[in-house]
Amino acid sequence: MKKPLKEVSRGKTKQVYSTEDPTQVILEFSDRITAGDGKKRDELPNKGVLNCGISTKLLQLLEQTDIPTHYIETIGKDKMLVRKLEMLPLEVVLRNIATGSLIKRLQMIKEKTVLKRPIVEFFLKNDEYHDPFLSEEYIALLEIATPEEIEEMIRLAKKANDVLLPFFKKIGIDLVDFKLEFGGDTAGILRIGDEINPDSMRLWDTATGRILDKDRYRKDLGQVIEHYIEVYERVTGKKFEG
Ligand SMILES: Nc1ncnc2c1ncn2[C@@H]1O[C@H](COP(=O)(O)OP(=O)(O)O)[C@@H](O)[C@H]1O
Ligand SMILES: [Mg+2]
Repeated sequence: MKKPLKEVSRGKTKQVYSTEDPTQVILEFSDRITAGDGKKRDELPNKGVLNCGISTKLLQLLEQTDIPTHYIETIGKDKMLVRKLEMLPLEVVLRNIATGSLIKRLQMIKEKTVLKRPIVEFFLKNDEYHDPFLSEEYIALLEIATPEEIEEMIRLAKKANDVLLPFFKKIGIDLVDFKLEFGGDTAGILRIGDEINPDSMRLWDTATGRILDKDRYRKDLGQVIEHYIEVYERVTGKKFEG
């Protein structure tokens, strides 16, 4: 059994542990929730277990479609064994429906507009500088990724969307947008890392438009964990036992 050896880093919501295998790390999902570059923070009991379970299902779906991810195995309710990646400091956002920063930047686009084609955007993952938008030229300028890596991230984000959008549609949920983080594994292959769950996606109930994701926390809509439980149960098809 793989065991966490030593905590190597602690982010806003997850701890990373080394293992005996230098090519693998363990991600531990905590109950912390944050917004506004980490300025707003809370603890929501069960959130770690819920997000680990949802990420497990969604990363497995991608792996089954031959999309390279870091996923190896879920080794505890809140712990995932993954390939160790050299993470790129980028947030790669794929949008199907206009909301959030897109409609702030392009005010001629109305909220909830269904985009004719999904679009992929890049942001610098840096709370101090408030995650600024990056063009492909900016990414090259900052020497974060090569043009080939940028193309590969766009291709993989769209391929992931081709799997996730119909999966959510079948369970009555509109996949509005989602954020991916990428990194290179020890063999140099670019893979989807980090997490895919209601902290990193916008999910709207198709029938009612009800918000099911972290916007409930950002916008103080209440009943955050109740909605994460609902997403867990609809995504995994299993009752959440805690
Ligand atoms: N496969 C991986 N290998 C190494 N680091 C990873 C991997 N997947 C995710 N990480 C990193 O784990 C850290 C902890 O996650 P998180 O708490 O979400 O941090 P943050 O506050 O930076 O968003 C992040 O820096 C994330 O990039
Ligand atoms: Mg994070």
